Amino acid sequence: MKKIVILISGRGSNMEALIAASDAGQLPVNIAAVISNRPDAKGLETAARAGITAHFIDHKTFAGREAFDAALAECIDQFSPDLVVLAGFMRILSEGFVRHYAGRLMNIHPSLLPSFPGLHTHQRALEEGVRIHGCTVHFVTPTLDHGPVIIQAAIPVLDGDTEESLAARILVQEHKVYPQAIRWFAEDKLTLENGRVRLSADLADTAVLISPEVR
Ligand code: GRF
Repeated sequence: MKKIVILISGRGSNMEALIAASDAGQLPVNIAAVISNRPDAKGLETAARAGITAHFIDHKTFAGREAFDAALAECIDQFSPDLVVLAGFMRILSEGFVRHYAGRLMNIHPSLLPSFPGLHTHQRALEEGVRIHGCTVHFVTPTLDHGPVIIQAAIPVLDGDTEESLAARILVQEHKVYPQAIRWFAEDKLTLENGRVRLSADLADTAVLISPEVR
């Protein structure tokens, strides 16, 4: 079974969705550890309660990004993971770190990339007046919120929507697509070809999840 290490910074609801999927027998991976860069991340307690090894490495105690990333990589590599999963990990990663995990570093981002990389995605979607918004699971490259897309989920932006209502509806989709993407990785159904993700033939039509609200 493939091993994963999950990196978090806060609430950890995506991590929780992965733990739940694994407990339900729907995600054939061994969650070897959860690591947070913030000692007060709520997700650390959740991981520990689930019996998963949980560590924190406080980025504030390091002189700079490279030093923190080196310590983080050393901690991750103790577990020899097949995949490192960023689940609300609020740090920009150095190029060296990203290259070290090339093809085995996944992220979830709350927008339909390449639209709205970075922060405040829901506010920016409202400001732009887009009609469709969503989330993306992708392999990570050194460019922020960029990289080969694995799966996306779309929801409509409704007239009465606020940042909070969009965030809540998108989070529901995040909790579906992240376990799905990692399951495909675990089952060797994803390959990277010329910077794009290829899915195995049996999955050809399943990498976009359109919320039933979209008609
Ligand atoms: C999610 O919206 C995720 O897409 C983004 O940060 C948020 C993390 O939420 N990268 P949680 O910590 O998984 O609850």
